[in-house]
Amino acid sequence: MSTFKAPKGTYDLLPPDSANYLAVREMISAPLRRAGYGYIETPGFENVELFARGVGESTDIVTKEMYTLTTKGGDELALRPEGTASVLRAALEANLHKLGNLPVKLWYSGSYYRYERPQKGRYRHFSQVGAEAIGAQDPALDAELIILAVDAYRSLGLKNFRLLLNSLGDQECRPVYRAALQDFLRGLDLDDDTRKRIDINPLRVLDDKRDSVQKQLAGAPMMRDHLCEACKEYHDTVRELLLAAGVEFEDDPKLVRGLDYYTRTTFEFVHDGLGSQSAVGGGGRYDGLSEMIGGPALPSVGWALGVDRTVLALQAEGVELRLPSATQVFAVPLGDDARRALFGIVTGLRRAGIAADFAFGGKGLKNAMKSANRSGARYAVVAGERDLAEGSVQLKDLETGEQQPVALDEVVAELSRRLA
Ligand code: HAM
Repeated sequence: MSTFKAPKGTYDLLPPDSANYLAVREMISAPLRRAGYGYIETPGFENVELFARGVGESTDIVTKEMYTLTTKGGDELALRPEGTASVLRAALEANLHKLGNLPVKLWYSGSYYRYERPQKGRYRHFSQVGAEAIGAQDPALDAELIILAVDAYRSLGLKNFRLLLNSLGDQECRPVYRAALQDFLRGLDLDDDTRKRIDINPLRVLDDKRDSVQKQLAGAPMMRDHLCEACKEYHDTVRELLLAAGVEFEDDPKLVRGLDYYTRTTFEFVHDGLGSQSAVGGGGRYDGLSEMIGGPALPSVGWALGVDRTVLALQAEGVELRLPSATQVFAVPLGDDARRALFGIVTGLRRAGIAADFAFGGKGLKNAMKSANRSGARYAVVAGERDLAEGSVQLKDLETGEQQPVALDEVVAELSRRLA
């Protein structure tokens, strides 16, 4: 062990588990890639103001959870706590929205940072795969994204997840609702912090987890009863498209989410096997965000799924991903000449597209065979001086135990045939 440990709230991803994480990222992004989303990568840090304006000055993410720093040059930066503001910033900076093909559909995968109280499923460094469709207001686009997320979870074999759906209205109907909610909340018996919230971000009070607050919210006005005609129609169409695609959802009129940019469609995926950190993914429409960060009007929608929590959800359901073995062939040389010969064969196998590994470090037969078995390889190629003298190696099927000699110059072709 070294003197150092991974920082609080973080963990290292190590083999063999890391293969699951890679596969989850791959399988979440596969439906997006099939639906015309292009890959985007943005820096791990941004100007702090981007998140303050984009995510919202009053959100926990901005007030409590950002890792901020001042560079030697005096720039105020923040490690990215989420991806949407960065992706939109990058799209605007590159004028992707002016290339004529709207919506601009992008997907991303990476690390995000929030200074949260660590617990199982809640980390200070975590990983998301996300998607953003920029520059179109079309209920079919909201539905497309939700369906792609559901298909991603299903492709992983997850079953016990639920989709919570709500509409947060738009700039027409939300202010009216906000005022009605504020009036209602001011009449309740709430602590000082929550009272402050009534002025700054009253919708977040609906999200308060405490029983004492939830009890008092029983008769609170709900956004769904205040939606304007356009928002109502939009939301109804999203719901119809989801139902037509066989996607079940629960209407959750109190679903607010922790980021301020949302308008109209908002949704969250929760998994019932995860305890308190049950949100495995979430997203929604953000029609005003572009203008908030200095861009033109570009109505957009997107989501991000948490990779760490998706892996925990797979564990909770006992789902094992069927991943191909990292090593198909393992070479076991006995003696220096055999080492040289088999090292050449391993290189040849790799160049032929076969995953091959080698017993490094001059191991004896017993230890080398142990390594071969542990590697998950289907075949071992074993050679000693006697084999080499006959111009052959022993090819051992590690599943059946069968072994037979194969000519040195035919090993690559023979294994290519067997593994095809
Ligand atoms: P979010 O709900 O803040 O949304 O995060 C999305 C997902 O990231 C969560 O559902 C959760 O699975 C995972 N996540 C968030 N925080 C943590 C944490 N501390 N530890 C582990 N996992 C975490 C967004 O980030 C929005 N940008 C989504 C979006 C995209 N909206 C529109 N476009």
